[in-house]
This record gives sequence, structure tokens and C-alpha cells, in this order.
Amino acid sequence: MKPRFAEFAGRIAHDAGGDPWALHWEARNAKARGEDVIVLSVGDPDLDTPPAVVDAAVAAMRGGDTHYTESAGRPALRAAVAALHTRRTGQAAGAENAIVLGGCQNGLFVSSMLLAGPGDEVIALDPMYATYPATIRASGATLVPVAAPAANGFHPDLAALEAAVTPRTRAIFLATPNNPTGVVFTEADVDGIAALARRHDLWVVSDEVYAGIADGGRVPSLAARLPEKVLTLGSLSKTHAMTGWRAGWIVGPADFIAHAEQLALNMLYGLPGFVQQAAQTALDIADEAETVVRAYCTARRERLYRALEGLPGVRAIWPDAGMFMLLDVRATGLTAGDFVRGLYQAERVSLLDGAAFGRATEGFVRACYAAEEPMLDDAARRIRRYCERLAPAR
Ligand SMILES: Cc1ncc(COP(=O)(O)O)c(C=O)c1O
Repeated sequence: MKPRFAEFAGRIAHDAGGDPWALHWEARNAKARGEDVIVLSVGDPDLDTPPAVVDAAVAAMRGGDTHYTESAGRPALRAAVAALHTRRTGQAAGAENAIVLGGCQNGLFVSSMLLAGPGDEVIALDPMYATYPATIRASGATLVPVAAPAANGFHPDLAALEAAVTPRTRAIFLATPNNPTGVVFTEADVDGIAALARRHDLWVVSDEVYAGIADGGRVPSLAARLPEKVLTLGSLSKTHAMTGWRAGWIVGPADFIAHAEQLALNMLYGLPGFVQQAAQTALDIADEAETVVRAYCTARRERLYRALEGLPGVRAIWPDAGMFMLLDVRATGLTAGDFVRGLYQAERVSLLDGAAFGRATEGFVRACYAAEEPMLDDAARRIRRYCERLAPAR
């Protein structure tokens, strides 16, 4: 007999289209076996975690900081997260407004579970980070994707957003800077979204995991406009090259944070103390660390963009910030899925099909440019060779 699982297991399963990461894992495994493969399909900066952060973790471990910790994080770390939030957004916040969780992803899940449930609707701007559908559906709510369409430069379409709101809508999920588009929502975009959320009494979950690598280390802030209904999510993953440490947070109203603490108690039981000590150091040196990652990404954005100029049938789209660039492959006549599979087979370069992020990026593929320069150059040469071979067939 087939084992039975809770309905919840179905809600977090992959969509019928299968696992969009399958090709990425295949490429990663091939690379691990020593094969000549270039993996630009994941957003993990090719940089080391700052040594001071590693030292803090090692010292904490050696000092015996290996026991249970507070579920919401240590008060000093929560205060440091709140202080970073205030620097970035201008919004006043204290330790009671911050909870430390296992990465921004954990923050997304906690937000989803606490803001909506069966019978509710949650809007997410499409394209959306690939985990959003399952994360949102996990609560039992219905996901309502609303396009931030290519025709609008992947900025929100406020009229479409307004039209999608129903009496059942509870929240809007979005990411700025965006993954996969690299778009930073403008002051006008966030003004419009905040006004709409206020009118309809909606929560806004603003995923700002890449904010520290945007120009000046900040983006136009929703929280500053609607403090009582906006959750701002962040982490050290991208800004400090710390994806494996799983250190992230939510900043929001104190009553929300109290519920999040209760969920963290039952689900996570607190981040390891040595990770929290490392995170504290990471926040102490946030300005320097972010400057390093920002400079790294900015230089490589330019480099990859220039290297991909004039590709037959493929147009690179300049991102405002982050570590991703979209390539519009619609003029090749291939689906983006066929394009990435063909590229991998022919040239052993792994990119991600934009369809993994929603309908608005069908026909686009995503490249991560947070990689060493010789590897980026090599990838660009291979992509060009592939596109040139495709061209006569059209
Ligand atoms: C938009 C977005 N949100 C959240 C995450 C997850 O970040 P973290 O490592 O902090 O969980 C990512 C990772 O790629 C992302 O791109």
C-alpha cells in the first residue's frame, strides 16, 4: 500500500512541470565529479565568508557556545538586526521588532504560515523567487500570481494588482531587488503598493535579501511607508557570502514578531549560538562586507553584460542590482527550457529556465554573475558559440 501523507505534503510538492532545479543539480554533480561544467544557475556568491565572521563562530564554538538558545534569537543580535533595518529604511525599530531565523527562506515560511490560511488568498508578484509558490501554499492559502510584466520592465502593474484584490486577499509577497529580474522597485512602485495595501488592509511581505547589494545598500522601503503592515525580510546569505550559515530575519510589528517567536519555538528552537555570534560580527562589519560584495557584483554585471552584447537571437537585460541577469531567448524560437537544456548539452553551461519563477519570465533564462571573472568570460564565450550555432537553424 502507498504510504499516506498529510494534505500539507501535497501543498509543498513541485508543480506538475517538475523540479526546475533538476538541471542545476545535474550540473553541480557533474562539476563535483571534476567535469568541465560552468554552473551559473544558483545565487551563491563565489566569495568566502569574511574571516572575522568565521573567527567569531570558531571562538564561540571553542568557548562552549553550543547549547540551546532563545527561540527568537539573542536580544543583542535582534537589536543589531533592528539597527541595520533602521539604517536601511529610516523606520524606527527595536529588538522587539526583529526575529532571527534560519535564513530569509525561513522568514518567508514563517510569514506565510502566520498571515493566511485555508480560504484566504495571497498575491505574489510574478516573477517570484522559485520557493514562493510552495511556501505560500503551505499555509493552505491560494496563491494569486500578478504579473510584473516584461512589457513594464518587470515593474509592478498597479492596476493589475488592484484588480486581483478580493475580500479574501490577506497579503502581497514581493522581492526588491528582485530575483530573477534584478529590478529594484522605484519610489513610485512602493508608494503605489503601500497605498493599495493600506486601502485594502493587506500585509506586505517585502523580501529584501539583496537590498544590501543595491546602490548605497538600500532600496525604496515599504516598511517606511506602512510600518504597521509590512514585514521586511533579510539575511546575511547574499551580502556576506554566508548562504550556508542560514542566518536571516524578519523585522515587523511587535505583535507579529511575538507570534513568529512562538512558531520558531515549535519549529526551529533557536539558531545555534555560534551562528548567532558570527551573525553579530557580520552585522558589526556590515558596511565593509556589503561594499565588497556590491563591488564584486557590480563589476561582474558589467562584464557579463558586455560579453553577451550582440548575441544572435538573445538579448541580455541590464539588472538594477543583485546577482542575476535575465536573457530574453524568445527570438531563438526555442522555449527557455529547451534553450537551457540545449546549452548544457552542447556547452556544459548551466543556466536556469525563467519559467521556474512564473509566467512573466517564460521565454527568459537567468544567469548568476556572482562568479569569478575567467569563468564568466568562458561562460559568455560558450553561450555565444551556442547561440551562433542556433542562429542558422532559424
Ligand atoms: C528573493 C530571495 N529570497 C530568499 C532567498 C533565500 O535566502 P536565504 O539564503 O537567506 O534563505 C533567496 C535565495 O536565493 C532569494 O533569491
